[in-house]
Order: sequence, then structure tokens, then C-alpha cells
Amino acid sequence: MTGERCNGEFRTADWDTYRMNTREPFVELEAPEAEIALVDEALAALKDAGIIQRSSYDQAAFEAHREAVRESFEIPWTAISPRRERLIWALNAIQRPARMIAAGVFCGFTFICNAGAGAGPGAVYEPEDLVGIEIKADEAERADRNVQAFAPGSRTRIVAADARTFAADYCGTIDLLYLDASGPESGKGIYLEILESAYERLVPGALVLAHNSVNSAERLAQYLSFVRDRAKMAGSMNIVMDNQGLEVSVR
Ligand SMILES: C[S@@+](CC[C@H](N)C(=O)[O-])C[C@H]1O[C@@H](n2cnc3c(N)ncnc32)[C@H](O)[C@@H]1O
Repeated sequence: MTGERCNGEFRTADWDTYRMNTREPFVELEAPEAEIALVDEALAALKDAGIIQRSSYDQAAFEAHREAVRESFEIPWTAISPRRERLIWALNAIQRPARMIAAGVFCGFTFICNAGAGAGPGAVYEPEDLVGIEIKADEAERADRNVQAFAPGSRTRIVAADARTFAADYCGTIDLLYLDASGPESGKGIYLEILESAYERLVPGALVLAHNSVNSAERLAQYLSFVRDRAKMAGSMNIVMDNQGLEVSVR
């Protein structure tokens, strides 16, 4: 299995048939070598497009991270596939964001896919501030419990807040922004509002990762136009390795 690069996109041939059970996130869906090879290809495509600076990451550290999440996290459901988990972790391990904000973290799994590169058993660098924002207080509490069990004393925090106001009020610069919130009226359309709130704080070279670039492409139309506009962002690529999609953009 290999992926194809075309018109700002990296797409695997099996993107639509590679399916997970959202209630069993740790079930292996393919041979580990196949997962590693596809993620390597996606990273190479991002590097060739100038979106990331290198494409290699510490695979043993990722396995330590995955195992620790499996042991310590309570995950009622998730649409983050094993390929996606590896890709997000690898992007953070490559980018090494001192300050990372993840918006709409639900039970904390998507947060730790990002933050796990800088916290917990697989950490590969020392961050300053890794923040997960969740608007529902009870979900924020569960996310916090999960993160505390996984990486006590790390430079991670879960905040119960609206990601739009949190980003607008954040003191300091942002090196990586992960978008996964789903608003009651606008659905995934809220991504653009969050990005606009954070935009001035994104350092040159900051990564912006947007989950659901495939299955919510319609609701994300304005967001995708924004990040694919070279006047606004330096580059952007849609990574399609499952039926959810991840748009990876660089400021
Ligand atoms: C669909 S869930 C993300 C789950 C994730 N995609 C997964 O598969 O594990 C979206 C989360 O965003 C949260 N959310 C919605 N609007 C938000 C906002 N304005 N700020 C922060 N979180 C928000 C919701 O409460 C929900 O927990």
C-alpha cells in the first residue's frame, strides 16, 4: 500500500476502507510495518512541500507513548485511528512545540496524541506549556484525570473553557494549534473562529492541524480556503489516510 500526492493532498488508496471501531481505539487494524510505512510517506510528502523540516521521528518513543496511553486512559469513544494517532504524535515530535494548544479535546485522547511527544513515557523534548481546551466541564475533568494518570507533574494542563476566548486571551506565542472542537450551531465551522483568535500569536513556522478535513469538508469550506490561501498561510496539505482526514498547515 502506498499513497498518492496530488494537488495539495496525500491520499492512500484504502482511505475509505481503513475503518476503526470508535469504541475500541487500541485494536490493531493493520501490520505495524504497514502503519509505519504509510505515516512515513505522509511525513515525506509534508517535508517535500516545505510544511515540516524533517520527516523522521523516534519510533520506540512513540511505542512507549502508545502503550502508556493504553494503560492509563479511559476513552469512551474516539474517531482517532491508529494511523492518525501516530501521525499526530510524529508531527509534534518533529515540530517540538514549546507551546501547544489543542481545542476541543473531549476525553483528552486527541490532546495526548499531540502532547505525548513532550510529556509522559515517550516524551522526546521539554515543552513550556501544552494546553488542552474543552468547553464541557465534565469532559474537561475526565481529560484531566486521564492526563494526570498518564503524565503526573508534566507541563500539560486541561482547561475548561471556550477555545475561541482562550486563544484570544492567551499570553504568549503558539507553536502548534490542533483543532477538533465541534460547536452546537456551526459544527466544525468553529475551526476558523478559533484559528482567527489564535492567528496573530502563531509564530512563523507554527503548525496548525485540523481534524475532519475529509468527513467535514463542507462545514470546513471557509476554513480550508483560509489555510490554503498563500497570503494567510505558508503552506497546507490534506493528509487522507482514513475517512476523517487531517489538514496540516504552516504559518
Ligand atoms: C467531537 S469531540 C472531539 C473528539 C475527537 N475528534 C476524537 O475522535 O476523540 C469535540 C469536542 O469539542 C468540544 N467543544 C465544542 N465547542 C468547543 C469550544 N468552543 N471550545 C472548546 N471545546 C469545544 C466538545 O464539547 C467536544 O468534546
